[in-house]
Order: sequence, then structure tokens, then C-alpha cells
Amino acid sequence: MSRAEALREEAGATPEQFWHKAAQALQWERLPETAYDPENDAWFPDGRLNTCFNAVDRHVAEGRGEQAALIYESPVTGSSAQFSYSELLDRVSRTAGMLAEAGVEKGDRVVIYMPMVPEAVFAMLACARIGAVHSVVFGGFAAPELAKRIDDCRPVVVLSASCGIEPGRTIAYKPLLDQAIALSAHKPARSIILQREQLRCDLSEGRDIDWETAYAAASPVGCTPVAATDPLYILYTSGTTGTPKGVVRDNGGHATALRWSMEHIYGVSAGDVYWAASDIGWVVGHSYIVYGPLLAGCTTILFEGKPVGTPDAGVFWRLAEKHRVKVLFTAPTAIRAIRRADPDGEFIDESDLSSLQALFLAGERADPDTLLWIAEKLGKPVIDHWWQTEIGWPAVATCFGLGETEVRVGSAGRAVPGFRFRVKDDAGDAVAPGTVGNLLIEQPLPPGAFRSLWNNPERYAAGFVDFPGHYTSGDAGMIDDDGFIHIMGRTDDIINVAGHRLSTGQMEEIVANHEHVVECAVVGASDELKGEMPVAFVVTRSGVDGGQDVVQGIVTMIREGIGPIATPRTVLFVDSLPKTRSGKVLRNLLRSILNGDEIVVPQTIEDASVIEKLLAAVE
Ligand code: COA
Ligand code: AMP
Repeated sequence: MSRAEALREEAGATPEQFWHKAAQALQWERLPETAYDPENDAWFPDGRLNTCFNAVDRHVAEGRGEQAALIYESPVTGSSAQFSYSELLDRVSRTAGMLAEAGVEKGDRVVIYMPMVPEAVFAMLACARIGAVHSVVFGGFAAPELAKRIDDCRPVVVLSASCGIEPGRTIAYKPLLDQAIALSAHKPARSIILQREQLRCDLSEGRDIDWETAYAAASPVGCTPVAATDPLYILYTSGTTGTPKGVVRDNGGHATALRWSMEHIYGVSAGDVYWAASDIGWVVGHSYIVYGPLLAGCTTILFEGKPVGTPDAGVFWRLAEKHRVKVLFTAPTAIRAIRRADPDGEFIDESDLSSLQALFLAGERADPDTLLWIAEKLGKPVIDHWWQTEIGWPAVATCFGLGETEVRVGSAGRAVPGFRFRVKDDAGDAVAPGTVGNLLIEQPLPPGAFRSLWNNPERYAAGFVDFPGHYTSGDAGMIDDDGFIHIMGRTDDIINVAGHRLSTGQMEEIVANHEHVVECAVVGASDELKGEMPVAFVVTRSGVDGGQDVVQGIVTMIREGIGPIATPRTVLFVDSLPKTRSGKVLRNLLRSILNGDEIVVPQTIEDASVIEKLLAAVE
């Protein structure tokens, strides 16, 4: 039996011992005696620790103070910087002092709406240091999305910057923040604003504090131990409605799982350079730019740029060479973009990638063509793996760190030790191997996975009711005879655009508000670059022709309501939408029509003649 199989068995048979042993890799203020409390579904209920201590202070105390902890590479500003663990400790403890000075206390929420700058990472760790709960909001979200999050988690302080930088343009954050605070019912007492030279902003008197001034005046503060079950962060993610779900992550289970994953899934340990080319606004950024690599004593890279165009498709490989990156993690979209710009992989050939041992992909489906292309060009293992914001760390993977290298194209790997997957049909019956159904995970979920949704226990519980005893992932999947799990896409109205999880239901709510729109449906169309892109089917009021003005109006509403990442690829005007006799829009049919898939006319369709018209509209 392989080591991975042995651990799968051990974690399945005796999860409490397994995770209690894994927890010993951390330093606890009080080591938990109880691994798991079934009544409250809580890991390490009597343990106390500080996540920041384990990610920062502990490495300095253990003699790694001079080692690089964080490398900042920003091709969009033409700058880079490096922080050793000692420097990180200094920055983080002073940032924590700055937060304390601004009135933040243990348990308070802090919203972080920032670009990919080192101060954002210091701020996340600073919150962890004082037991405050951060909620990072992706910088590409528009003001109404920020407002929803402010209203839901009610932060004492918002941390932001004067601007973010996208290729070719500077995004003024301050007007977005002001608009969000104007829209929200909850008014944070303070905002602390980092001025960036690329675009400075005016500060609002009475509310805004200049980051640099406050930081300079702050004294360093130490770590506040918290209960393992206390929240570390809230990260909002798209659900099927316009209201995002506030996934709550605890401290003890999270640190245990991430620390374990670095060694056993990714195969890295203290001193190795690990680079997740994602954004801190997403779960990948939380887990594998910030917490995972730092908990393991690795060097992590914060990249403010794009896979192409900053300045070219060679930037990943040049940086991997420059910093001797051992493991790189990115989204398949990034590889598709690189391939499009450099089809022969010339930039790859020009780089010395001898340090690189594996490339990991996640966040969306890795299409076999892209995966095989990059595997061939790199000549290294390319490992697809699957997880979600709710889960917090990989649940399906080829455990490279355990010596697994067999990759089955089309599959995201096997269950990671600790996760017990089941596939069931809609009636709740287990399906045979090789059959697609609802992808479920047996309870209890291992450490690191969510245990609640902020302010919304009912919505959390809803994730467990359809299949009692199981978490419903929302993905369709299939497990083959050898235990490889194949992810087939979502079973709900969530789409994945360039690795960004978005709700089509939310887009529909926005489009329906357009003055000329009677009804609409938004579905994800396959997209060669971004995996999926939203397409809006729109029925206009009688007498109103769908013209360029209406298209522009709808596009602007989505960009200003959700953010530019949700920009629809097309708006299609149709006479009517395909519906069931009970009035439900047949979104799967729309998706098939758009993607040119075989059309199966549903028995329940109210009027099948609409299909011909839709096919004509799509042409
Ligand atoms: N702040 C503000 N705006 C942002 C933003 C941010 N953090 N991120 C993206 N946007 C904007 C872009 O500027 C763009 O605006 P535009 O429509 O006005 O041009 C829009 O959102 C779409 O951006 P993006 O999805 O990045 O598309 P693109 O066409 O500019 O770039 C890729 C294409 C492939 C280079 C890009 O999608 C990419 O890097 N994908 C990989 C994403 C990734 O790593 N995801 C990981 C999640 S795990
Ligand atoms: P997020 O919560 O933003 O990380 O998005 C999670 C969703 O992205 C999952 O439910 C899947 O639908 C999709 N996803 C993530 N990783 C993969 C993968 N490796 N293959 C297919 N889909 C994936």
C-alpha cells in the first residue's frame, strides 16, 4: 500500500487521532485534549493558539528570522521587495498596533479592500495577531458588493488604498470605498488608507486615517491567544442569490489543515519557495499566498500582475527562475492565456526552471488540452486539484508530497486524506462508479472546512439537508473504479469566469432592473480563454428594440453592480425565454443552445417552438 493510501485509510478510520497528530505541528498556547466535539461539530474545542504566531513569530524564534518570508513582485508598478521573517514580524506587529490604536479589539471585524500590496498581507496577519476577524474583499468588486459585505460583517475599520493597478489603467479605490460606505447601513468608524504614488486620494475628514502616519506612530503589539474555534476570517463567496455567503474560517482547524497540506499535498517545507499566482481576495490567496506557506515556514510570493501583458507571457517563468520557485499554483485560465500568447512555449524554453518540481491548477475545470500542453512544455508534473471557498484547502488532489504523481487527465485526483466523497443521484441513492451525480462529502468535514456562515446559520444548514449526513458541494462529479474523482461542473447557477466564482442569479437580479427589460436569464457560455463567460438573454418591453444603447446599459449595470470581472460576453435579445409549464426558465437548454451542444428537448417545456427562434438569435 502506498503512503498516500495508508494515510487515506488512517484518516478515514481514526480521524480524531489523525488530526490530533497533525495539530502537533503547530505551537499551541493550550494543546487541545479533545480532537473533535461531535455535538458542536468543532475541531480542537479546548485548544488555544494564535495563527499569526505560528505563521510569523515562531519562525523567528526557531532561527529562520533572516530567511525571506514574503517576496513582492509587481510588474504593473515596476517594483519588487523582499521581507525576511524578522522584517515580517516587525511589519505585522506594528500594523497590529495601528489597528489596536484605531479601536480594533479581539472579535471585531476588519474589512480589507486592497490591491495586491504587502501591506494587505501585513494587515491580514495583524488581524490574526490581535484576534480580530478579517474580511478581504476582492479589489475587482464594485461598490455595491463591498457595501453588502460591510453591512453583513459590520467592521469597526475598513483598510483600503488609494488605487489598484490594472494593465494600462489605474483604478481609484477611494471613490468606490466612499460609495460603498454611502450605500451601507453600517458605517465603519474608521478607514485607514494607504496612499500609493500612482494615484493619491483626498482623505475624508473625521473618518479616514493616513496609513503611513498611523503606522509610523504605532507600537508593536504581541499575539493574543484565541480559542481554536474562534473565527480567523470571513470570506464572502457567490451563492445562487444576490446575497453572498460569508464563509467563516476558524483558527485551529484551519492552521492544522493548511500546515498539513503544504507538506503532504504540495511537497514543500520550511525554506522552500512556494508561489500561488492568485489574488488575496479569493480563497486560494488566503490559503496559499498567505497562511499555508507562512505556517510552513516557506517563502511566499505576492504577485501584482497578470500572466500575460505585464509585460509578456514569460513573466511566470522568469519569476520562477529568479526566485527558485519549487511549486507554482495558478488557474487554468492563466495557462490558456500564456499559451495563446506563446503557443510554442518559447518563454518556457528560455527560463531555467530546474527548481520547479510541480505546477498545480485549481479554481475551475482544467481542460485536458491545456493541461497536456503545459505538462509537455514544462516537462514536470502538472496537477489539477479541486476545492472551494467553503472547504478552504484541497479536497481532491494528487498528493505530490506523499509521492503520488499519477495524473489521470480529466480527473482532479483522488480524495485527499480526511475527505470521504460520495456521489448520489437526486433521490439520494448512491450511484455506481463511473456514473455522474451530486458530489457530496460525508460529515464531519475535516479541519479547515467551514463550520458556519456569518449571520446565517439557516443558509449554512441548507448545505447539509438535501443529503443528510453529507455536505452538498454544488458540483456534479463522478468517481471512477480507481477512486479518481472527475468534476463535471456546477449543479446550480454559479459560473466560473477566469477562476472567479460568480452567481448568474445575481446578474439576473441586476439585468431585470433595467428599465427596458421584462425578463432575462443569464447563463455561462463556454469560453476558450476564461472557461466560462456570462451571456444574458433578454426580453425587452413591447415597443422597445434591443439596440446598442440597451446592451451598453446592461453591461454598465453589471460592471457597476458586481464589477468588471462579471462583464457579459454578449447580450442577446429574444422574444421569449424557454420555460417549463410551471414557468421555470430552462437554463440548461439555453446553455446547450449557446454552446452548440446536442439539444435534448425537455418534456416539461411549455412551447418547444421557442427553440428555433433561440437558435436563430444565437447565430
Ligand atoms: N481590480 C480591478 N479590476 C479588476 C481586477 C482587480 N483586482 N481584476 C480584474 N479586473 C478587471 C480587469 O481590468 C478587466 O476590466 P476591463 O473589462 O475594463 O478590461 C475585467 O476586470 C476582467 O478582468 P480579467 O478577468 O482579469 O480579464 P482580462 O481579459 O483583463 O485578462 C486573463 C485575462 C486571462 C489575463 C486574466 O483573466 C487572468 O489573469 N486570469 C487568471 C485569474 C486567476 O489567476 N484566477 C485565480 C483565482 S484562483
Ligand atoms: P471557489 O469557491 O471560488 O474556489 O470556487 C469553487 C468552485 O470552482 C468549485 O465548486 C468548482 O465548481 C470550481 N472548481 C474549483 N477547482 C476546480 C477543479 N480543479 N476542476 C473543476 N472545477 C473546479
